[in-house]
Amino acid sequence: MADKKTFYITTPIYYPSGRLTIGNAYTTIAADSMARYKRSQGYDTFFLTGTDEHGLKIEQKAEKAGIKPQEYVDNMAKQYKELWKKLDISYDKFIRTTDADHVKSVQKIFEKLLKQGDIYLGEYTGWYSVEDEEYFTESQLKEVFKDDNGKVIGGIAPSGHKVQLVKEPSYFFRMSKYADRLLKYYKENPDFILPHSREKEMVNNFIKPGLEDLSVTRTTIDWGIPVPSDPKHVVYVWIDALSNYITALGYGSDDDSLFKKFWPADVHLVGKEIVRFHTIYWPIMLMALDLPLPKQIFGHGWVLIYKDKMSKSKGNAVYPESIVDRFGLDALRYYLMRAIPFGSDGSFSPEDFVERVNFDLANDLGNLLNRTVSMINQYQAGLVTKPASQDDLGSDLAKVANETIVEYQKQMDALHFSQALDAIWKFVGRANKYIDETTPWVLNKEGKTEELARVMANLAESLRLIAIMISPIMTESPAKIFAQLGLNFEDEAQKALEFGAFSWNVKVTEKPTPIFPRRKKDEEVAYIKEEMAKAVSKKQTRSEKKAAEMEEEKNYISIDDFDKVQIKVGQVISVEAVEGSSKLLKFQMDFGDEKRQILSGMHKFYPDFEELVGKKILAVTNLKPRKMMGMESQGMLLSSEKGKKVKLAIVGDEHDLGALLG
Ligand code: MSP
Repeated sequence: MADKKTFYITTPIYYPSGRLTIGNAYTTIAADSMARYKRSQGYDTFFLTGTDEHGLKIEQKAEKAGIKPQEYVDNMAKQYKELWKKLDISYDKFIRTTDADHVKSVQKIFEKLLKQGDIYLGEYTGWYSVEDEEYFTESQLKEVFKDDNGKVIGGIAPSGHKVQLVKEPSYFFRMSKYADRLLKYYKENPDFILPHSREKEMVNNFIKPGLEDLSVTRTTIDWGIPVPSDPKHVVYVWIDALSNYITALGYGSDDDSLFKKFWPADVHLVGKEIVRFHTIYWPIMLMALDLPLPKQIFGHGWVLIYKDKMSKSKGNAVYPESIVDRFGLDALRYYLMRAIPFGSDGSFSPEDFVERVNFDLANDLGNLLNRTVSMINQYQAGLVTKPASQDDLGSDLAKVANETIVEYQKQMDALHFSQALDAIWKFVGRANKYIDETTPWVLNKEGKTEELARVMANLAESLRLIAIMISPIMTESPAKIFAQLGLNFEDEAQKALEFGAFSWNVKVTEKPTPIFPRRKKDEEVAYIKEEMAKAVSKKQTRSEKKAAEMEEEKNYISIDDFDKVQIKVGQVISVEAVEGSSKLLKFQMDFGDEKRQILSGMHKFYPDFEELVGKKILAVTNLKPRKMMGMESQGMLLSSEKGKKVKLAIVGDEHDLGALLG
């Protein structure tokens, strides 16, 4: 027997740096709808999502929360999985970039690329803030200082700290080598990047002007995958993150059967701001690895709130939970897939949302079901029977139904969720019109039982088809529709999708209940707006509370706090200036039973720093070692500061080396 057709779809892996909004849910719901659709079409489908857990942001978030990065990402991944469960996301695998097998495979990939010369060691130049321990590009700086010739010679980081131009060793990926091959691939595969406008943007803005080699490691970040052959470097963001699409299938591990079965991916769904990484860096990485490229990258637009970008601080972020708890899951899934054409930006507005719930769901679909089931009870004692023949109106309804199915499949195949739903809702409208055209109440009065039975059968059949067509996108209502029609969803899903395949002689429910109750618009809009505001004020209250607590405590520390700090007497063995930094001095210190390297920003205060050799200085020795300018500092020299005068805490010879202060 021939192997089943396969389909592999992915979402981006999310940074676990905060609560997920309806914007993140948007991509995931789209991917889920597609995966469900393909499964219903008989494809052996693999749907991947997950979390992108390394990097400085995560390291800082964890530090703020006072926990280890691993613990932080464990909590977040758990939260995300709970959300996906609530949204009925039918993923086959949830990959985390901290998974041991992912880490191992990324290391293998890196070493392979290094060995074959696609990755080389160079120097990364950027604006560095010692206090933030972070690099900034010139455009990210809050302020820049220029010399008389207009050359930028310094600046201020967004945090308000000064930055200096420094160089850090970094590995680079030779991107330019592959540019021509990439352009050729775009040409030969015109649907590789969708929508097509995004391909033009990539070619004109990034590839044609010349691809720069990409910095792929950092020495200033700890929370990342170490480069095996040079572990002071960690793999920086994109090689780690993008490889998830293949490591999740077992690429680079002992069992790569899923990789063999599903790679290349049929489609990577990504937001428009990361299209560049997926259509330039990722294909080039794959070319360098000699692997086939994904068949398609679909760059969707953003979910805006009204016309604005969603942001927690602006108080306009909408979280999926608050919508689902109030309106039900299908209202959210329907709205996101219908109101925002996939590929373009679109807006979520509370007013529009409630209107769609009322008009599209409660009136159009909900009423069609309710009227149909009520009439079948009233006129046919609840029984749906096969029509003996069709008349013109019935044949036309059947024709429109079958045309709708074709259109729906065409649109779904192209990831045009909104247009697919448009087609279905046009048919919902057609079925409602069929009731007005056939006037069953008149047929009943006139005793035309055969015609009446035909109309009821046609309506029930229309609803069955509608329920099947919406089922990849709306995961709860189809089962309710089937239950009210007296059908079994599992059985129906096995049948060919065409008008007339109804399981006749079933009994509809006696008491139809509205599947989408009508809402009071003003009340519901107010509710959504309150939820948006609450998300901000909750955060403020919590941080305000914390600030108040800290205010109260700040004048005192406990003896336990003091005991935690280990201060020792050390002697300077040697000291030198750090190249590329105007501030830092590198001290080699002797603490009696151990030696340590300590970096300290003292150059300005000790221009003749050689004089410090042999001096005894107090140092904190149990601070977590940290990297500055790519070098490790294993402690902190104490100093006093008054105004502009800064002096190291030099002590007399009567203090023994390694003596503990306390
Ligand atoms: N970790 C990277 C992706 C690596 S993939 C190898 C990342 N993560 S993210 O969490 O910042 O964003 C993930 C996705 O969410 C992006 O595709 C982004 O476009 C999407 N969205 C975030 N907010 C969104 C909206 N308001 N609307 C639509 N999509 C949005 O980037």
